[in-house]
Amino acid sequence: MKKLIAGNWKMNGSLAANEKLIKEILAGLGQAACQIAVGVPSVYLAQCQGLLAGSAVDLGSQDISAHEGGAYTGEIAGAMLKEFGVRYAIVGHSERRQYHGETDEVVATKAQRALGCGITPIVCVGETLAEREAGRTEEVVKRQLAAVIHTNGHCISEIVVAYEPVWAIGTGKTASPEQAQQVHAVLRAQLKAASAHADRIQLLYGGSMNAANAASLLAQPDIDGGLIGGAALKAQDFLTIIA
Ligand code: PGA
Repeated sequence: MKKLIAGNWKMNGSLAANEKLIKEILAGLGQAACQIAVGVPSVYLAQCQGLLAGSAVDLGSQDISAHEGGAYTGEIAGAMLKEFGVRYAIVGHSERRQYHGETDEVVATKAQRALGCGITPIVCVGETLAEREAGRTEEVVKRQLAAVIHTNGHCISEIVVAYEPVWAIGTGKTASPEQAQQVHAVLRAQLKAASAHADRIQLLYGGSMNAANAASLLAQPDIDGGLIGGAALKAQDFLTIIA
């Protein structure tokens, strides 16, 4: 299976900065062996669609509405994202769960909306530091993924999963390759129990992945790519991870 390296720009960027970053990434890309995507703020989708047209880099959104359309002020429907060439939608990022109260059920519905529009959801799961210290890591990630499996049934092999320990996001503290692999193996087993095609589901690791630690993480048997925040804002770092 090809690996997927996906950037999550979060609430960063500007028209000028995006153009510079994308141009630098495309200029340095060469023949990449992996799939590549960038998850950009919604207001910049049109700009980035134009900049990425015809390239090997796919476009992603950082969220998608759980609703199809209508009176949901501020929300963006999957059909709208699709119009701008969005291939991936990050759903259930811990920052959305934490700051916007997204429950496991909402995340599962968002994944369903994405699939319904032909957009691949990148479903994020992960434990907090307190949960890890209490020995609850497996229980938490399995509960989060179970909701998505329950809602999406046989379509589950069409999703991408990102394991992002909350304590590793933006902190510079990366899970060790062994710690990450251990959780990825749990998620893989859970997906296998739900789908005969679980082997083709890409399981990404996210949380302070960078140019220095990416190779050892990506060498683990069940780590099929990365969801990259901070390091995706620096063209050279992102390119090194891709390489
Ligand atoms: P980070 O973010 O790489 O800056 O830790 C990853 C993410 O939140 O997706």
